[in-house]
Amino acid sequence: MTLDPHPWARELVTLHDHAWQRLVRGVHDRHAPARHPTLATVSPDGLPKARTVVLRAADPSTGRLELHTNLHSAKIADLRVTPVAALHVWDHGSRLQIRLEADVAIATGPEVAAAWARVPEHSRSAYSSSQRPGHPIPGALDYDQQADPAVFAVLSLTIRSMELLHLGADHRRAQFTRASHWAGQWLVP
Ligand SMILES: Cc1cc2nc3c(=O)[nH]c(=O)nc-3n(C[C@H](O)[C@H](O)[C@H](O)COP(=O)(O)O)c2cc1C
Repeated sequence: MTLDPHPWARELVTLHDHAWQRLVRGVHDRHAPARHPTLATVSPDGLPKARTVVLRAADPSTGRLELHTNLHSAKIADLRVTPVAALHVWDHGSRLQIRLEADVAIATGPEVAAAWARVPEHSRSAYSSSQRPGHPIPGALDYDQQADPAVFAVLSLTIRSMELLHLGADHRRAQFTRASHWAGQWLVP
């Protein structure tokens, strides 16, 4: 008899717990799959926009996540009009797809000073270029590397819904919503 490598996938509660463990691991382990989720927003003209981000905080007790970005980036313009986002992770080791839908709040200035202080020096310009990310430039490297803390933003994602798809010997799919206090519901995969 072969042992089930993923016994946590069999029950709603352990599946949900496992997904959170994998998200939390992404915050602390730069090699974990959840380190680099895909964040999708809706542009003001209604188009879907997706990009890779770094997961900076994950709190299972509140169902919240945090990301860092530049206040001048297009995703901020998207979120100002439509303050919801989807986040996607494919965790190959766990054979688990995590799909989240969240309300997004944007914080900047003194409110995020503590988060800014924790950003390593060498990563700061990635989130705080004073030039607008996506602005056309004459040559590939014709941009300013100066970090400006005034444009550093923290995105706080309050998860509404978490949908999990586990591809084990059997396939299992479940949805967990804040509205149902994360009780969970199996779905046809
Ligand atoms: C591995 C990786 C990690 C990234 N992490 C972030 C991040 O944490 N925050 C961020 O704003 N952009 C991050 N980016 C850049 C984004 O993918 C994107 O190019 C940039 O944010 C501009 O997106 P926008 O124009 O849609 O706002 C990362 C890109 C890669 C490839």
